[in-house]
Amino acid sequence: MTYPLDPELDRTELYLSPEKDELFEKEPWPKPFVFNEDVVNVFDDMVSRSVPLYREVLTCAAHWTRAYYQPGTRIIDVGCSTGTFLELLGRFLKQKAVLVGIDNSQPMLEKAQQKLLRVQQTHQIELICDRAENCSFDNSSAVVINYTLQFLPLQERLKLLRTIYKGLAEGGLLFLSEKVKSPYPQFQETITRHYEAFKARNGYARTEIERKKEALENVLVPLTEAEQVQMLYESGFERVDSLIKLHNFISFVALK
Ligand SMILES: C[S@@+](CC[C@H](N)C(=O)[O-])C[C@H]1O[C@@H](n2cnc3c(N)ncnc32)[C@H](O)[C@@H]1O
Repeated sequence: MTYPLDPELDRTELYLSPEKDELFEKEPWPKPFVFNEDVVNVFDDMVSRSVPLYREVLTCAAHWTRAYYQPGTRIIDVGCSTGTFLELLGRFLKQKAVLVGIDNSQPMLEKAQQKLLRVQQTHQIELICDRAENCSFDNSSAVVINYTLQFLPLQERLKLLRTIYKGLAEGGLLFLSEKVKSPYPQFQETITRHYEAFKARNGYARTEIERKKEALENVLVPLTEAEQVQMLYESGFERVDSLIKLHNFISFVALK
C-alpha cells in the first residue's frame, strides 16, 4: 500500500485540557467509577497520566486511519470522550472527511464539541450521544475504539464488534485498544506492580491509585489478550494483529 507518511504526526502534541485530576485525593471519591461531570472536567489529564503510551497509541491510530480511510465513507471513534483522537486525526487528514464521535456521556461530547471547532472548518463532524450498542457503523472504513469496549458488559462486546464488522466497508479497519489481564496470576501481579509504578511516576499518590482501582472494580472488566483476539475473529474480522503493548494495555488492528 502506498500513501504518504506524515512524520509531523509523530512529532505533534495532543490537544489536552490542563485541569488536573485530583478526584481520588480526598473523600468522597467517585465509586463506582462513572463518566460524570467531575470526571469529564479532568478527563484529559486522567487518561494521559493513566494510560501507558497514550500519545503514541493515538498517533498510531491516526496513521492507520489515514492509511485505510476510503474517501466517501465515515471514520468513527467509539467512546470518543473529549474528542482528542478526532482532533488529532482532523489536523492530519488532508481530504475533507466525515468524522463521527460516539459517546454516551453528554458532558464528554460538550468538551469534544469545543475541541473540534477548528477541525470542523475542514471536516464534517458528527457527535452522537448514545450507547455504541445502539449505533450503526454502515458506510465506514475506519472505526477506532480506544479503552471503551472494556466498559461494556461481556455479552455486549461481541455483539458490538459484529455490528462494527457488518458496517465496515470491504478492506475497512478496526483499531482497538483495551486494558487486558494476564492469564497467569504471577505475571498479572508483576504487571500490576509495574503499572502502578508508572502511575506513581506520573504523580499519583498510593491512596489515589488504590481508590481508583477499587472504583473501577466490576466496572472495567478486562479480558486476556488471547480472549480479545478470539473475540475479534469470532466477530468476523479476517486479519487481526497487535501493534502496541505496555504493562496491561494493548492496541490491536483488525481488517475486514
Ligand atoms: C476511557 S474513555 C475512552 C477514551 C478515549 N477513547 C480516548 O482515547 O481518550 C471511555 C469512554 O467511553 C464512553 N462510554 C462508556 N460506555 C459506553 C457505551 N456503551 N457507548 C458509548 N460510549 C461509552 C465513556 O463515556 C467514556 O467517554
